[in-house]
Amino acid sequence: MKEKTLSVSAIKDGTVIDHIQPGAALKIMNILQLYAENRQVTIGINLKGASGLKDIIKIENVLLTETQAAQIAVFSPHATVNVIQNYQVTKKFKVQIPEKIDSLLACPNTRCIGNSEKIATLFLVEESGHQVTLRCKYCEKRFTRDQMHEKALM
Ligand code: CTP
Ligand code: ZN
Repeated sequence: MKEKTLSVSAIKDGTVIDHIQPGAALKIMNILQLYAENRQVTIGINLKGASGLKDIIKIENVLLTETQAAQIAVFSPHATVNVIQNYQVTKKFKVQIPEKIDSLLACPNTRCIGNSEKIATLFLVEESGHQVTLRCKYCEKRFTRDQMHEKALM
């Protein structure tokens, strides 16, 4: 018999971000500040899925915006977003990489003026093959997604 158990509980209403690249869930949580506003969030890391390991994030009573779904794609291009209503999956879509990311990220170049308090950062997202790089509008340097961190921390 095929085992069908959930390593993380089902939710009643909200959003499930599934098939996240293993290890990327915490980065997505921090960069998008998904835990803000007393939200109830459960995270699974390195869960065994049908096609290898995956991370998962479940947020109760929250719908993500299109902008947020696109931001997730930069850090996990194969993630899916599931909308849950009364325990049922009512909508499912794959995230799509955006052309740019506004405000959220700090520039890894510590001398970049984008890191000064009053300026909103802006990175242009460039894809080539499986590589995603982000180019800072201010210092024009390119960075890998692994180099990126949320602006609030700096
Ligand atoms: N899920 C949940 N709470 C619910 C319903 C679903 O947390 N009330 C989760 C499931 O555990 C799964 C995701 O939402 O991680 C998508 O659910 P479903 O479409 O039923 O699963 P799969 O068919 O396995 O999805 P996919 O084909 O996208 O892998
Ligand atoms: Zn910069």
